[in-house]
Amino acid sequence: MKIIQQIDALKSYALSCKKQGKTIGLVPTMGYLHAGHQSLIRKSAAENDITIVSIFVNPTQFGVGEDFESYPRDLAHDTAAAEAAGASVIFHPTAEEMYPKGYHTYVSVQEITSVLCGKSRPTHFQGVTTVVSKLFHISHADRAYFGQKDAQQLAVIMRMATDLNMDTIIVPCPIVREPDGLAMSSRNTYLSAEERKQALVLSQGLYAAEKLFADGERSTAFLKETVRQKILTAPLARIDYVELLTYPELTPCETVKSQCLLAVAVKFGTTRLIDNILLEVPEK
Ligand code: PAJ
Repeated sequence: MKIIQQIDALKSYALSCKKQGKTIGLVPTMGYLHAGHQSLIRKSAAENDITIVSIFVNPTQFGVGEDFESYPRDLAHDTAAAEAAGASVIFHPTAEEMYPKGYHTYVSVQEITSVLCGKSRPTHFQGVTTVVSKLFHISHADRAYFGQKDAQQLAVIMRMATDLNMDTIIVPCPIVREPDGLAMSSRNTYLSAEERKQALVLSQGLYAAEKLFADGERSTAFLKETVRQKILTAPLARIDYVELLTYPELTPCETVKSQCLLAVAVKFGTTRLIDNILLEVPEK
């Protein structure tokens, strides 16, 4: 497996692969890889001749006072984890390589970035769409793989790819969880033992609502309240939001009539965790 740090080097590699008629899958990550990331890499490796995994803690998507400096980094572990899952190349640029002096261009998706995480992280998604569109250009990817774990991010990237007529196909991938239900995240490493225990209320609240939904409950207010009540049983949890919106449009609804996203963001100390489930209305 190759490790490439320069944009030009990755571009020429990608172009030479294309010339040979090979398909390219891209898995953008910020590293500290876990089984969730590896599931995306495996899917890409199964569906493409070449899989490029980018590992880049992207400064433009972190707000002031967020965890950019302390975000966990471990390139040796990531290299082994990416290779084990079937990656062909790791792209690991420096911040200066991606955003050199004089850099002034940003990609910004409107409307659907002002709800959910966009409310408390107003500049976050512009950083994400900017880096992801750069990665699409650099990698010449036929397909790019994103986790449903970051459901709003996935919706925003799908919107960007459609609106800007990008050729890269966006492939959604299901959430990978720990055996006890906690959604895997590089940020789980910040949790103390007690916070880790209490963090289970996120998935438990979502599963309780999912069960009610399966039994016929369609009231947005009631489903949200079910999740909220479960989260409130954890004394260390501070709710940022519990939201139910249509998906992927991310518009409000009083009752669930089409596919909807039930999503939560909860802080434990300074660690902010997100989780969600999709509610699919069965066809009659
Ligand atoms: P990061 O948090 O490293 O996640 C990289 C990809 O892995 C994202 O598509 C995310 O949704 C997916 N992922 C994370 N945890 C997962 C889980 N438990 N199950 C399934 N997929 C999971 O998301 C980012 O990085 C960045 O914003 C990025 C898109 C790389 C842009 O910088």
